[in-house]
Amino acid sequence: CPCPALYPYYHQEDSVVVVVDILRAGTSMVAAFDHGAKEIIPVATTDEAESFLGKGYVVAAERNAMRCPWADLGNDPSEFTAERIGGRSIVFTTTNGTQAIHAAREAGAAEIIVGAFSNLTAVARHCQASGRAVTVLASGWQNSFCIEDTLYGAALLDKLEELGATYRLTDSSRTALELYRQHRAHLYDYLYNCDHNQRLIQRGYPESLRLCLEQDNSTHIPTLNEAGQLYV
Ligand code: MLT
Repeated sequence: CPCPALYPYYHQEDSVVVVVDILRAGTSMVAAFDHGAKEIIPVATTDEAESFLGKGYVVAAERNAMRCPWADLGNDPSEFTAERIGGRSIVFTTTNGTQAIHAAREAGAAEIIVGAFSNLTAVARHCQASGRAVTVLASGWQNSFCIEDTLYGAALLDKLEELGATYRLTDSSRTALELYRQHRAHLYDYLYNCDHNQRLIQRGYPESLRLCLEQDNSTHIPTLNEAGQLYV
């Protein structure tokens, strides 16, 4: 069926691009740094990720919301424990989140960072301190709209307003903000039936949504460097 495409997105070269994949890649990346990951190398293809096996990396790979059978880890935040990834370099490929990072990199930006509910306030403070325009790049699902990523964009805007930032609303950010303010008090219930949560439940991840909506338990902001690696 025809789906509204997310790309191209509103883009300004001097902006901070906040790449968002709430369910679950972005949240997993923040969790990985919370548990001591040294760096994350986002790669576009499963072949590329597989080529890192046996070379000292932890390889995390997901397609269609399932762990690739040959990978060390999949893409659930609960998998990124200190025991498994502390002090290690992680090679990461996912269906949409790592693709969005690559898209942002190709488009060019002053800075590319990863936002999640877990680091919401830290990201908002960072964006405000940068003094730059902010572009939220919602990863979505296979080029179609995902409500959880859009609501995160609105939550970031709401937080920026709380911090005293000035902004101009586009049609998309106005719509998202109105929706977020309507449902912020019961986000879990509101998002329970969203496409990707239902997909995750079917795949055996009934707890992911709750985990991915936990707010402000991290101050880590994964940031892409020139070499295309994420670090904090
Ligand atoms: C993705 O990058 O597409 C997602 O994080 C999918 C997932 O939930 O594993």
